Order: sequence, then C-alpha cells, then structure tokens
Amino acid sequence: MHLRIALKIAKDYSMLRKEEKLDLDYLSNDSLLTKEFWVDLNPCLNIENIVYDNQSIISYKNFVQDNNHLIKLGYLHKKNSNFKVPISLMKKSIANIVNYKLPPVFAFVYDEFWYIQFQLRMLLEKILNKNYKQLPDFWAWHVGNGQSGWTPHRDKGERSLFKNNKPKSLTVWIPLSKASPNNSCMYILPANKDNFYNKPKLNSANFPGSVSDIKALPAEAGDVLMWTQELYHWGSSSGEDGLNEPRISIAFEFQRSDIAPFNNFLLEPNLLPTFNERLVLISMQILQYTHMYGFKKDLVYWAQSYIEKYKKKLSLV
Ligand SMILES: [Fe+2]
Repeated sequence: MHLRIALKIAKDYSMLRKEEKLDLDYLSNDSLLTKEFWVDLNPCLNIENIVYDNQSIISYKNFVQDNNHLIKLGYLHKKNSNFKVPISLMKKSIANIVNYKLPPVFAFVYDEFWYIQFQLRMLLEKILNKNYKQLPDFWAWHVGNGQSGWTPHRDKGERSLFKNNKPKSLTVWIPLSKASPNNSCMYILPANKDNFYNKPKLNSANFPGSVSDIKALPAEAGDVLMWTQELYHWGSSSGEDGLNEPRISIAFEFQRSDIAPFNNFLLEPNLLPTFNERLVLISMQILQYTHMYGFKKDLVYWAQSYIEKYKKKLSLV
C-alpha cells in the first residue's frame, strides 16, 4: 500500500522530468539502491538487523505534570532520555551522508533511526493513546555554518488539537548534536502567548504574539523535544564564524489512532519498515518537503527515480 501511494506521487512529478535535463549521475547510480552501499558508508549502524526490544523502552513518569505543560505551553522538553541507540554514531552517519552530497533524510535507511522512536512508546501512549500511529512524515537536518532551520510555521495547525488544546497529533524532534542559539536550535512562541493558538487564523502573515515572548529551546544530543502540531516554531540560523559544530537532528510525527488519519496511510510504530520500504518513504519525504526546503530539481528527479526503480523491481504497476 505504501509503495502504491509513493508511485502516485512520482507520477505527479513526471511532467517536470520532461521539461528539465536529468542529472545522469544521480539517476544512473543503482548502487544507492543496495544495502551494501549504505553499510559501507556507515558500517557501525544496522539495516534490517535490529529487532525492536520492549525491554529497551524508556520508562516514563510525571505524566500529569508533563501533560499540563504540553496543554498549556504547547511543548515538552525531556532531558537525558537515555536512548538505547548510539546517538553519536547516528550523528556521524548524517555527517557522512552529507559529505557524500546526499540529503540527511537518507539516514532513515538505518534501523537505529526507526528504533529510536519506538523507545518513546510509553510516553507517546500516555499523551496520545495506546494504539497511536506513526505518520509517514519524518525528516533529518544538518544545519551547517550560516545555514538555517525551517522558517516559522505551524505543522498541521488547529485541526491537530481538540477544543481543550489536547493534541490529536505530535511532532517529536530529537537533536543528535548539541543544539544551541549559536549552531541553530528550536525557537517557539509558547501556546499561552500565541494570540491564535487553537483559533481561526485571521492574518497568518503577522507574528502571532509579542517578540519578547519568543523562547529558545537549546538542547543536548539525545534530548527529546515534542510539540503540538499547532505550536508556532522554527529553527534558527547558525552562526557564520565557523566555530560551531553542525546542528544535526531528526523529527517524527505521531497521531492518535481514534481519529481520521492525517495522511494517506499510517505506520505502526512497532514495525520496522523493510529496506525497500524505507527507500521509498525517504523518496516520498524528499518529494513532499520540496516546497519547504527549496530542493534543486535534480534532487526531486532523483527521489522520483528511486520510486520508479522500485516500481520496476517490485513489478508494481
Ligand atoms: Fe515544524
């Protein structure tokens, strides 16, 4: 089912291909479709080797306090989460991918980038519901000197909240490096300072509150930030002095299981996608976030080519 939807997205881009010159290097490099390529690139990480382990799920307390914080302010910052995955190796893998001139989201070929979200199950079950789902929307960032995170936005907006500000869905953002005002971190307008939080947006062009209420959320590698998908937020710019390490982070989206799906299909958080499914899902992210990231067209064609190659490989029509 996932693959068929991906193919539909690919079809939408087929007109672009006819108009632009294709980058033959990207499109002809079949090695990118092999596990061996990715294992060689980051030999310390796994592909289809990890079995999700309930013993490694991070225990969770303080629900009432955290839930009140999330409802009132629209976000949570959980420090020292003690993930049972090698955070520093995951950070390095993204640097290696970027050095290879590939987008960081390709890190999701590795098991660890899926397993990390499952370790938050206890927390997400409390905040969402027991059978919550993972949305097929994820991303990875490598913000270098002089670069910026995403500009101010709300993820899904007010449709992602109940009337009492309880979230129907959540974004989970995990820094794999230190994230500070110097090398880019998340900035938010807290929900209780947002004039339009869970309200109709009368003029979305204006900043929805007072600039003095902006809050920086510096974080350490392996912390967890989560926010409602109505929270106004952005990633700041990194300094240009060359003194800072890149800000490297990943994000996931989740929703309750008892509401209508926010996407064409949903993922089970406790099931590891196959390698082929991961490559298709990654290609889908590149296509669907092109408007946010301003990707060059050759990268869009590249993502499309992955999906098309799987169509042939899997004999899907
Ligand atoms: Fe966002």
